[in-house]
Amino acid sequence: MKILVINGPNLNLLGQREPDIYGKGTYLSLVEMIKSHCEKKHIECEFFQSNHEGAIVDKIQEAYGKFDGIVINPAAYTHTSVAILDALKAVSIPTVEVHISDVGAREPFRQISYVSFYASKTIAGKGFQGYLEAIDFLSNFH
Ligand code: DQA
Repeated sequence: MKILVINGPNLNLLGQREPDIYGKGTYLSLVEMIKSHCEKKHIECEFFQSNHEGAIVDKIQEAYGKFDGIVINPAAYTHTSVAILDALKAVSIPTVEVHISDVGAREPFRQISYVSFYASKTIAGKGFQGYLEAIDFLSNFH
């Protein structure tokens, strides 16, 4: 099984960025944590982080026929991007949406998620652990 893990804008700054909300762990430590979880489960995983909406759309399109699942934290694009939603629908790969923070308890503008119109599951407010739960969900789904 092959899973693509996509992280959107500003998540490259994890650790430095609003640590009271997103924690002290860096993007690199997040990748290492997911990698070791996937190794234990014999799941192949690939990582992609971009601050650019179009680059995320391109990556999702390229995933067609190559990946069995997508874990995506679209970050701020969660709340704005119909293009990312449409790309996920176009490739039709099972997808779990992850948010490190509890978006439901934050500002009103964070209450809409376009990606959630496609994602099989949304995990929010569980920190980095949410990504591992997303991997487990997709591996059971497979
Ligand atoms: C986020 C929540 C979003 O509202 C925000 O724009 C992010 C990160 C999260 O992981 O909690 O960049 O997706």
